[in-house]
Amino acid sequence: MASGVRGQRAFSSRARSLITLVMMFSAALLVFLIFVIIGVPAALNNPVSQSSGATIALKIPQITRGQKREGDAAVQPYVEVLSWEPRAFLYYNMLTDAECEHLINLAKPNMQKSTVVDSATGRSKDSRVRTSSGTFLNRGQDPIISGIEKKIAEFTFIPVEHGEGLQVLHYEVGQKYEPHYDYFHDSFNTKNGGQRIATVLMYLSDVESGGETVFPASKVNGSLVPHWDELSDCAKTGLSVRPRKGMALLFWSMSPDVKLDSKSLHGGCPVIEGNKWSATKWLHVNKYSVPS
Ligand SMILES: *[C@@H]1O[C@H](CO)[C@@H](O)[C@H](O)[C@H]1NC(C)=O
Repeated sequence: MASGVRGQRAFSSRARSLITLVMMFSAALLVFLIFVIIGVPAALNNPVSQSSGATIALKIPQITRGQKREGDAAVQPYVEVLSWEPRAFLYYNMLTDAECEHLINLAKPNMQKSTVVDSATGRSKDSRVRTSSGTFLNRGQDPIISGIEKKIAEFTFIPVEHGEGLQVLHYEVGQKYEPHYDYFHDSFNTKNGGQRIATVLMYLSDVESGGETVFPASKVNGSLVPHWDELSDCAKTGLSVRPRKGMALLFWSMSPDVKLDSKSLHGGCPVIEGNKWSATKWLHVNKYSVPS
């Protein structure tokens, strides 16, 4: 008899703790659902209203390849997903006119004939495949360059310290860069910072005709853009980007499993009319040390 009462008491206490547990779980589930239904979409639809500490990348609207933006939206930063094989993304309106002109003016007095890396020795050499002229600027050389490098770090999610100094390039009519990889084939050039993982190619001028960047090994069908007929023959050999002042092209030389991506093959088509100015930021797997 006595043991029966004890058993009932034990049972009802177990039931009470079970009910409490179920109620706590339901409350947690309710809070979670409210967050999912109201919280997340609000944050996604309104990224600009997030704290000013958010990175620039969270504020950049995204479009798919070939889409167009009109009016005020067309002059704000936005990103076009060009290709996943290779991974290539085009950031519009990323540099201001003043930033573009500053880089050109700094580079102009020091332009030299461009070279390529000799894959046997790792040293620079003259080459017919690359006929532009160029110069290097130091990382953090002045506040404007530091600002550009900070912006690059924010939208690539790769810290400033992983970048080489900017290289400014100038292509005149007929000048080009044959398709090549930005990653290295030698051990000499990977000593500092390891392999190059990604490249940001910034266009500092418009080009009247030609001068496109082309990815001949891309899996994307290059012809599926409204401006196909305006491209040079060279640009029609793959996925291509027409240079526009202030645009930044980001592409990855390595896949997420850090294998070299042969689809990142890319070239600079010959300029047909006008002048092409660009600035390249090569980003490494590890920190890249620069002279201080
Ligand atoms: C690319 O798209 C065009 C137009 O739809 C088509 O004619 C062409 O065959 C496609 N090319 C490839 C390689 O799929």
